[in-house]
Amino acid sequence: MSDRRLPSSPGFWRSPLRGPWFTSVLGLVLLAGITVLFVTGLVSYAAYNPGLTPVNDQTPGKGILGFYLFDWPTRPRWLYRLTQGVHVTLGITLIPVLLAKLWSVVPRLFALPPARSLTHALERISLLLLVGGGLFEFVTGVLNVQLDYVFPGSFYPLHFYGAWVFFAAFAVHVALKLPTALRHVRRARGADGEPTPKREEGDLVSPRPDPPSVSRRGALWLVGGGSLLLFATTAGRSFDGPLRQTALLAPHGGADPGTGPGGFQINKTAAYAGIDAAETSEEAWRLVVTGRTGTVRLGRADLLRLPLHSSALPIACVEGWSTSDQWWRGVRLSDLAALVGYGDADGVPDVLVESLQRHGAFRRAGLRANQVRDPLSLLALYVNGEDLTPDHGYPARVIVPAAPGVLNTKWVARLTFGAL
Ligand code: HEM
Repeated sequence: MSDRRLPSSPGFWRSPLRGPWFTSVLGLVLLAGITVLFVTGLVSYAAYNPGLTPVNDQTPGKGILGFYLFDWPTRPRWLYRLTQGVHVTLGITLIPVLLAKLWSVVPRLFALPPARSLTHALERISLLLLVGGGLFEFVTGVLNVQLDYVFPGSFYPLHFYGAWVFFAAFAVHVALKLPTALRHVRRARGADGEPTPKREEGDLVSPRPDPPSVSRRGALWLVGGGSLLLFATTAGRSFDGPLRQTALLAPHGGADPGTGPGGFQINKTAAYAGIDAAETSEEAWRLVVTGRTGTVRLGRADLLRLPLHSSALPIACVEGWSTSDQWWRGVRLSDLAALVGYGDADGVPDVLVESLQRHGAFRRAGLRANQVRDPLSLLALYVNGEDLTPDHGYPARVIVPAAPGVLNTKWVARLTFGAL
C-alpha cells in the first residue's frame, strides 16, 4: 500500500475533477490552439525575410529548421497584422487552458516507477520536453510582449528553437494520445454533460476524492471564463480607438499616442532611438541613395519634387499590436531605385535600409525586391495628411504592405539597392 502522504501515491491527489474526460477536452483545445501558435510563429519568422542575412536574420544558426522559408509577400496588406495578432492574442488566451491541462495530469509526473519499460521511459522524456518546452514558450512569449527582456540570451533563437523542441514533443504526444482523447470525449455523456458512468477509470482519477465543489463541466467553464477574460483584455491591442483601451494587459495598450494625424500607436519614440533633432532638420538631413549607377543625395525638398503616391497601410508590430490603416504619402521605393539604375521593374533588387537611430534593434534592415517593387511601398514623408511626427520617423520612413513593423524603418538615412 503506497504512502498517501506522498505525491507518488494516487491517494495523495484528492480532487474529484481529474479524469481522462477533463484532460482530453483540454488536450483537444490545445491541439488546435498550439498548432495555430506554431504555424503563426513560424510565419512570424518568415516575415522577417531572414534570407536577407545577416541584417534580418536573428537566428542564423537555424540550418534545416529554415526549410520552410519563402519570400514574404506584400499582399494582403494586413497579412502580418492578422498572423501576429493571432499569435500573441491566442498565446495569451490559451494560458488558462495550458495551466488547467498541466494541473489535470500532475499526478502522472510523480508516478512511480519513473519508467516501466524503454518505450515508457521515452514517452516520459518526451513529456518532460513537452511540459518544459511548453512552459518555456509561453513564458518567453509573455515576457517578450510585456517588454521584460529577462531571457538568458536573445529572444529570437530561444523562442524559435524552443518552438521546435516543444512542437516535436507535442507531435509525439498527439500521435500517442489523440485516439484515447477522442474516445474519452466521444464517450456518452449524461444530461448534465458529465461523462457516464459517473466514475471514470484510470490513474488520473482520485481513489478517494473530496466531495465536489464544482462539476467537471463547471470547471471547464471556469477555464473558458479565464481565457475569455484574457482575450477581452488583450485583443484590443489590434484595434484603434476606444477598443485599444480594453487591452489592459498590454504594455502599449493604455499608452495614449496623442491625437491628430500622428495619433496612432508608436513602438520606439525618437527620444528612445537617440534621434538628434539637428540631424533631421531640412538643412542637415540628406537621404543617401546608392545603386548600380552611383549615389545620389536627396534633401526633403528634392524628394517632394519627385512623383508622390499614397498608400493606406497598417503598422503591425512583432509584439502583436497593430493599428488600422493610416494614410501614408511619399515616394515609391521603386522610383528611388530607378534613380540609381534600376528603372525596369523586373531588375529592381533587394535594398538595405539604414536609419539614423542609435538604439534598438533593426537600425539596419533589408527589403526583398518584391517589397521594393510593390507600388504601395513608400518612403513616406507624410501621414494622414501632415508631415510625419518625430516619433513616427520624421523626416522619412519606410512603409511596406504586410511587413512586420520592425522592417518599416523610421528616420531613414540611407538606401543601398543591390547591397544584399
Ligand atoms: C503566450 C504565448 C506566446 C506569446 C505571447 C508569443 C509571442 C511571440 C512574439 C512576440 C513573437 C515575435 C518576436 C519577434 O519577432 O520579435 C513570437 C515569435 C514566435 N513564436 Fe511565439 N509566443 C507564444 C507562444 C508560442 C508557442 C507556444 C510557440 C510554438 C508552438 C511559438 C512559436 C513562435 C515562433 C516559431 C516564433 C518566431 C521566432 C522568431 O522570429 O525567431 N510561440 N512569439
